[in-house]
Amino acid sequence: MKNLDERTITQAVIERNSSSGNERLKDVMHSLVQHLHSFAREIELTEEEWEIGIKFLTDVGQICSPTRQEFILLSDTLGLSTLVIAQNHKKPVGCTEATVFGPFHVQNAPRLPLGSNMSIGVKGTPWFVNGQVRGIDGKVIPYAEIEVWQADDDGFYDVQKEGLNEYQGRAIFTADQEGKYYFETIVPEAYPIPHDGPVGKMLEALNRHPWRPAHLHFMISAPGYERLVTHVFKESGEYLDSDAVFGVRSSLIAEWTYHENGTDQNGQFHATPFYTLDFDFILNHKKEAVRHD
Ligand code: BEZ
Ligand code: FE
Repeated sequence: MKNLDERTITQAVIERNSSSGNERLKDVMHSLVQHLHSFAREIELTEEEWEIGIKFLTDVGQICSPTRQEFILLSDTLGLSTLVIAQNHKKPVGCTEATVFGPFHVQNAPRLPLGSNMSIGVKGTPWFVNGQVRGIDGKVIPYAEIEVWQADDDGFYDVQKEGLNEYQGRAIFTADQEGKYYFETIVPEAYPIPHDGPVGKMLEALNRHPWRPAHLHFMISAPGYERLVTHVFKESGEYLDSDAVFGVRSSLIAEWTYHENGTDQNGQFHATPFYTLDFDFILNHKKEAVRHD
């Protein structure tokens, strides 16, 4: 293939890719090349703009590390994460909705007994969280695995704190025989997504803020049910209508109840203020796996 031009280049690339034995990869690349070329044609991409784009993607890659996942931030701030989640988690009404995973989940969080405090030594207002995990059929799901992670009172996750080598504000709990879970933590605040890198510059150039409303992350797994990755957002918190990563769903906004004083779920009296949250999760049945090879 020689002398390719504006009209013929797209088909030439698609044909060159067509001998792959992986049908799904072929379809993905066909569509990707077509859309990428259409994009360049539609906006009449200049060489200077193309160079800026390549430099931007290079910067996104170079700032990445195991604890700084700029490509996730890029996907999230462009709404791609929310789109992919929406089209892959169409569930019956009544199931708890999914939302973005984000870059701050880490493997091997500590497994703590129900009722434990997962934020020992972290400053902030005590928060007692509880609820139940059930299936969409109404059945209680015993022993569901509930992974939780959150920012602190200053809006930072443990992995963002230099020199901190312990887990803070994250844990894995196992629900009891009745699907009930309960634990203690501190109330997290709204926070800006990391914005000292290329994605932050992009947001600034677009006159967008980097803030996320206050939330608690959950990942819930149980045999026979679809894994649920979601958040619970604080009712009447800031940024619910302008989340930098488009993750808010009305059904995930709940009352984080303030108590001037009183008795917590462990039966302990507090003379100083604390919050409580009561939130149930409803899981969908697992779909049959679809293979694409
Ligand atoms: C988070 O909620 O942890 C998060 C999600 C998307 C981008 C940045 C942070
Ligand atoms: Fe978060």
